[in-house]
Amino acid sequence: MNYAKLPIAAALALLTVVGARTADAQGFTPRSLQDPAQTLTREVGKSRAAELRSQIPRIINGDDAATGEFPHQVSLLEEGNAPGLERHFCGGSIIGTDTILTAAHCVTWFVGVTDFVRVGAGHIDLDQLTEHEIAGVWIHPFYDDITLDFDFAIIKTRTNFFDPAIKLIDANENQTLGVGDLATITGWGVNENGEIQQVLQKAEVNVVARTDCNSVDAYDGMVSGRMICLASPGKDACQGDSGGPAIATLEGSDEPILFGTTSWGFGCAEPEFPGVYSRVISVRDWIDSIL
Ligand code: ARG
Repeated sequence: MNYAKLPIAAALALLTVVGARTADAQGFTPRSLQDPAQTLTREVGKSRAAELRSQIPRIINGDDAATGEFPHQVSLLEEGNAPGLERHFCGGSIIGTDTILTAAHCVTWFVGVTDFVRVGAGHIDLDQLTEHEIAGVWIHPFYDDITLDFDFAIIKTRTNFFDPAIKLIDANENQTLGVGDLATITGWGVNENGEIQQVLQKAEVNVVARTDCNSVDAYDGMVSGRMICLASPGKDACQGDSGGPAIATLEGSDEPILFGTTSWGFGCAEPEFPGVYSRVISVRDWIDSIL
């Protein structure tokens, strides 16, 4: 697939319908939860978000990952004869033997037609992934395709992964990330030339204060409670990294945990606009209910 078409603009009309149907089928009515008092700012935020997300990607200033360094990283691959470079469209993380956590905006277009998509796992080289067919897709019932609030989806595969799952941030243990804390983001997303990368890339970024990320100079209130901002000068996720992991090793622990999934941003590595990630901790109950 031509990367320029992905992921939001091309299939938006279709996505909206499919996404809504999925939520209904699960018995949820997400829209009813909107706070009327927020309608005005939401409307402004919505058109702004659409505008921002259409910006052209610029950079991911990462380094090659080492073999086996991020065994939980997967690629969502569109079906086709072309090698990996033409097929990768999003990232994801292994959170169970046959379970992937990714972004809702990565999957809305193929719900109901999962034959078009494979989950590729087990390698840092896009062309050497082991492919798994998809058994089912769950979009978070509160996912909002305009604001990208609750940008989470879970994919179950027909076959088990050989690779270990990454541990999720645990709400009960009160694990937290503070402003300035270091996180690692990974993905095959585009570089400054708009090219999907052959070898998995990694970059270290820091947690940005929500108030800074939401300031009028930055996202001006578009960062919801389900989102966390990460940035480091010149480094960022970009198109094609979505759904992929943001991990961190918290104090007092020696293993990394998955606390975020790549969601959106204004351009890529723009100094005033951090990358925005979905906060795994905000939907732990929903994830557990599917796991
Ligand atoms: N929405 C993008 C995707 O679908 C991810 C964008 C992340 N952008 C950023 N500046 N951090 O791959």
